[in-house]
Amino acid sequence: MTTAIIYYSKHHGNTKKLLDAISSVDSEVELVDATEKHELDLSRYDRIGFASGIYYGKFAEQVLNFAKVNLPLDKDVFYIASAGNPTKNCFNSIAEIAKEKHSNELGRYICHGFDTFGPFKLVGGIQKGHPTEEEIQGAVEFYKYL
Ligand SMILES: Cc1cc2nc3c(=O)[nH]c(=O)nc-3n(C[C@H](O)[C@H](O)[C@H](O)COP(=O)(O)O)c2cc1C
Repeated sequence: MTTAIIYYSKHHGNTKKLLDAISSVDSEVELVDATEKHELDLSRYDRIGFASGIYYGKFAEQVLNFAKVNLPLDKDVFYIASAGNPTKNCFNSIAEIAKEKHSNELGRYICHGFDTFGPFKLVGGIQKGHPTEEEIQGAVEFYKYL
């Protein structure tokens, strides 16, 4: 099973922590930083993951653009995210693009991520210590049972 995960994780590297843990149990998974790579032939992967912190309620524009440009029709996809305030709406932006591409959604995982954006900085941030070890393991379990 070949898997690529396209990601953006720039605020505190919270989302990347989940991906690094996944990578440690599946050395074959290809992690693609959407800030470094803008084009990739995704047709040669069995499954494609999109992973991001949540910014203004959405996946990072870099990941959304990557999906718009590179995601072929009818692929198996999954989503991983971290957010200051995780809700199911956090997936809307990426799910909408995948829907246009007739993707088959395998699953979605979200957890808390340390957040010092805007006014939260004044109070030392919210969700300190997140993702926790448990949340990181949660992402690994999610991936294993996709
Ligand atoms: C510019 C900016 C906007 C954000 N907007 C949201 C938001 O709308 N909803 C939310 O729950 N968290 C929001 N956050 C918090 C991030 O989603 C959270 O810290 C996430 O774990 C960051 O992931 P990363 O470290 O992988 O980049 C925002 C953070 C930044 C820097």
